Amino acid sequence: MKIVEREIVREADCSAAVGWWNQWDHEHVTVAHEGGWVAGHLLYEDEKYAVGLVTIRVPVFSFVKSQALNINIKHDAQTMFTINLGLFGIPSITRITIVEDRRDHIIHTTNYKFLLRGWRRILAPVLPRLIDRWTESRWQEDLELKMRRQRVLRLGFRDFVGLPDAVEDRCYEGDLTTKLPIPRLGTSPIHELRHLLGDLLPRS
Ligand SMILES: [Fe+2]
Repeated sequence: MKIVEREIVREADCSAAVGWWNQWDHEHVTVAHEGGWVAGHLLYEDEKYAVGLVTIRVPVFSFVKSQALNINIKHDAQTMFTINLGLFGIPSITRITIVEDRRDHIIHTTNYKFLLRGWRRILAPVLPRLIDRWTESRWQEDLELKMRRQRVLRLGFRDFVGLPDAVEDRCYEGDLTTKLPIPRLGTSPIHELRHLLGDLLPRS
């Protein structure tokens, strides 16, 4: 087996709370990203885990769709892991750390490990460049979401409540936090499989 590893460090002008919100906001993936995600379904989630089934378009052969299984694990305050079984049955393990080195500024480090067996080892030389290109596009798309959320949180926005009514009250200087799982409407399309499978799936 061959392991291809890649580590990418980036910075953003937002709090760690916003960084984690972006990582665990599973709803945005199919609408905000051009990365080939066609559909996403959450099979399970709680304050530490999220298991998702996503449908993606195959790079180059975009008329072909493929399914991938994602297991997200919030390891500690600064670290999460994603174990993914994706295209061509290639497993990958991603470690993400988000460190708020100063107020409303993060250092975001992603470490990818792709486990290549058999014929898949021929992908090893091209994989680092593919990872770089793919993750840079995703980062830029996510950055817009992060900047917008950071801005509204500092204006006092609260999920399902909105902004303070009075314009002069639209300022929040306190700590920003993100609790898992991210609150969302029960009618969200990513709950479709959970509704369909009902008691066949574990509930948190
Ligand atoms: Fe994203």
